[in-house]
Amino acid sequence: MPAHEPVLRRAAELAEAFLAELPERPVAPPADVAALRAALGRELQDGPLDPVAVIEDLARDADPGLTASAGPRFHGFVIGGSLPVAVAADWLVSAWDQCAGFYALSPAASVVEEVAGGWVLELLGLPAGASVGFVTGAQAGNVVGLAAARHAVLARAGHDVERDGLQGAPPVRVVAGEQAHATVFTALRLLGLGAGTAALVPADDAGRMRPDALAATLDAGDRDAPTIVIAQAGNVATGAFDPLEPITDLAREHGAWLHVDGAFGLWAAAAPSRRHLTAGIERADSWAVDAHKWLNVPYDCAMAIVADPGAHRAAMGLAAAYLTTVGGTTDPTNLVPESSRRARAVPVYAALRALGRDGVAELVERCCAHARRFAELLGARDDVEVLNDVVLNQVLLRFGDDDARTRAAVEAVQRDGTLWLGETTWDGRVAMRIAVSGWMTTEDDVERSARAIAAAAGV
Ligand SMILES: Cc1ncc(COP(=O)(O)O)c(C=O)c1O
Repeated sequence: MPAHEPVLRRAAELAEAFLAELPERPVAPPADVAALRAALGRELQDGPLDPVAVIEDLARDADPGLTASAGPRFHGFVIGGSLPVAVAADWLVSAWDQCAGFYALSPAASVVEEVAGGWVLELLGLPAGASVGFVTGAQAGNVVGLAAARHAVLARAGHDVERDGLQGAPPVRVVAGEQAHATVFTALRLLGLGAGTAALVPADDAGRMRPDALAATLDAGDRDAPTIVIAQAGNVATGAFDPLEPITDLAREHGAWLHVDGAFGLWAAAAPSRRHLTAGIERADSWAVDAHKWLNVPYDCAMAIVADPGAHRAAMGLAAAYLTTVGGTTDPTNLVPESSRRARAVPVYAALRALGRDGVAELVERCCAHARRFAELLGARDDVEVLNDVVLNQVLLRFGDDDARTRAAVEAVQRDGTLWLGETTWDGRVAMRIAVSGWMTTEDDVERSARAIAAAAGV
């Protein structure tokens, strides 16, 4: 029997070495896919190998293909790093190897999940009675929230979608902001509601759903149709929030279910200086929020939260004769698509305890301050336009009035390796996009990155 100790110790040494060097690694990986295939793509041998040798080979061969996305100068997509305590808790999750869906299989994992879910509701100002399912990402969170929505609006119309599917169901009217994230449409596809059937509500120049346009859309359609409205807390380009107060009022007025995709933006509710952006959010019916982005826990971890636990369980519930339930509990599996899964709430529990309420607020506010500093440092230069009002952690830049120049600047930044960021299109024009959501980023990193961007862009 292979022993745990030598291989875990070696993995810990290798992980520590990686993390120690993380702040100064080139942010983009030096090796391309072909080189990695050559290094990792061995013939699978017949006999066993020494586990320590396997881990050493793996770490060495994978290393040139690792992106420093957990480091201090990764500003592409919206990606958080991992707090040390969250990495450590994640190691325990693997060592414990609990099947987290059932109280009977892991009372500890289930209770950690209850407690961490409760803390998240409190921090985000969501209703204390809401149910929280721990899912892989906001994509899955959107699926679960919209599955609960589909259940509830069709149940009100007298249709049992869990039993009968969409056969014979009244058509469901889906209304989403035109800036809704791509994963919302994947969720609609998976739920049989169709990616192309949603009525798209025009947005303002910051990407926020326009309440007057939402009112017109809701008034124009069949007012009696089962209706789901999908809003967004945190636009992936500008960081702007759909105005949730009037949107909630309109959804209520029309008897619609309101789902909020708050993948990264919902954490603004935990930060006193940003909380105003989320006003009204507690009156929605379901929410999706990632922990692996702004809470800085390892992948893959997010939450699907539903105000009515009955609708949540009806949509996701699992039943089989052999499943043992522990008296008075609802197994966590009834809130997520998976049956067996890892205890992914454990790093959330550890991160929240290590940070405390003030630490979460400070993490969010610090990232927002860094984003404003990026805008200040670069916006002050000739030929640089900051395209968005930096209300959160996202900054959009443009160099000259020229798509090609902006695109070339993004490519030059990526080649340089000091930092990594990406390109997007905003208002029909190419823009450089900076996101700040990692706990490691310091003011010095921001200044260093801003200098590297200026040099790459020639401004
Ligand atoms: C607004 C929004 N919704 C959903 C997602 C998808 O999240 P995940 O990749 O965690 O599934 C993202 C990812 O960036 C996002 O920004």
